[in-house]
Amino acid sequence: MDIRALAEKNRDYIIERRRYYHQHPELSFKEWETTKTLKADLEAMGMETQTFEDYPGLIATLDTGKPGRTIMLRSDIDALPVVEGTGLEFCSVNEGVMHACGHDAHMAMLLGAAKILAEVKDELCGKVKFILQSGEEHACGAKYYIEHGLLKDVDGIFGMHIWGTVDAPFICVEPGKRMASCDNFTIRVKGKQTHGSSPHLGHDAIVAASNVVMGLQGFVSRKNDPTNPLVVSVGKFHGGNMYNIICNDVELVGTIRTYSRELRKELETELRTIAEHAAAVYGCTAEFELSPMLPAVINDNDEMNQIAMDAAVKLYGQEGLTHMDSLMGSEDFSLFMEQVPGFFAFIGAKNPDKGIIYSNHHEKFTVDEDSLERGAALAAQFAVDFLNK
Ligand code: NI
Repeated sequence: MDIRALAEKNRDYIIERRRYYHQHPELSFKEWETTKTLKADLEAMGMETQTFEDYPGLIATLDTGKPGRTIMLRSDIDALPVVEGTGLEFCSVNEGVMHACGHDAHMAMLLGAAKILAEVKDELCGKVKFILQSGEEHACGAKYYIEHGLLKDVDGIFGMHIWGTVDAPFICVEPGKRMASCDNFTIRVKGKQTHGSSPHLGHDAIVAASNVVMGLQGFVSRKNDPTNPLVVSVGKFHGGNMYNIICNDVELVGTIRTYSRELRKELETELRTIAEHAAAVYGCTAEFELSPMLPAVINDNDEMNQIAMDAAVKLYGQEGLTHMDSLMGSEDFSLFMEQVPGFFAFIGAKNPDKGIIYSNHHEKFTVDEDSLERGAALAAQFAVDFLNK
């Protein structure tokens, strides 16, 4: 079973599908046409598919008819509200919507893997499930499928992301920390309104909220262990009406990123305490509200790590591998990894010789298509090795 050769054979198909999906992007939770086309693509390979009336995305199953484990391969399918600036001949036909995070490439690689696996079905046991998932960009798209029990009969899951700062066509199958956890917060600072010329008669919520922002940064630099990566960012600071009115109400909205499960548990209390005290210095109150979003993506399952490494080396040798630093961005693949053992790989998109130099989410982001067959091969090889182990 030569998966590398099968991927090469399907190269044109994979690239053609990537271009089709690139041209027809849809926003998170609205990927209805994408779902319909994916369903047709997978059914054309003889797969059984399952779609949902109230939610986009689908699951396709390749059943070998032989007893064994079930591996799930995952691609996200949503695009971003970005006006495309690539100038590609197959650029988006949906104004203001663009596959600027490479999820078009993910779909194409998964379809490529599906084609390869359908061809070698007789040599496999167990089942391969393909999940084409809605709403990754909103950090919670994966939830629906978990809540509907669709991972119950799954023994392992594999996902990957194509990445703009990693050289093509290299593969990164490193164990350990890959993407950070993500939790968002809102802080409401309340003061007392008065005339701008007599601040001593009121409680200035803008000054208090500024103190809260600096207090949060102080936590990161002074109280957090510096060897433990932590980001606390306030991205929105909203309050006030007029230059001569002392403001009595400020809203701060921000996000927290870390890899530490222990720290993540403690942060709500720690940051709330800082917010309350920092506001109290100026006679104001602060209400801290945390919205837990996603755990970190950490490749910490030894069996899965070994399968991924062996698969990549079997396909393209040590020279096909690359290193990528762990990121403070997040991925809702981590929700799947909480349910079943998982592995998350990265595939290089960058190629300066072809002018492909932009990062994910940039309006000129694109991928070196030479990487696509490698991603397809990696997913397929991972599935084969997981099932036949
Ligand atoms: Ni993405």
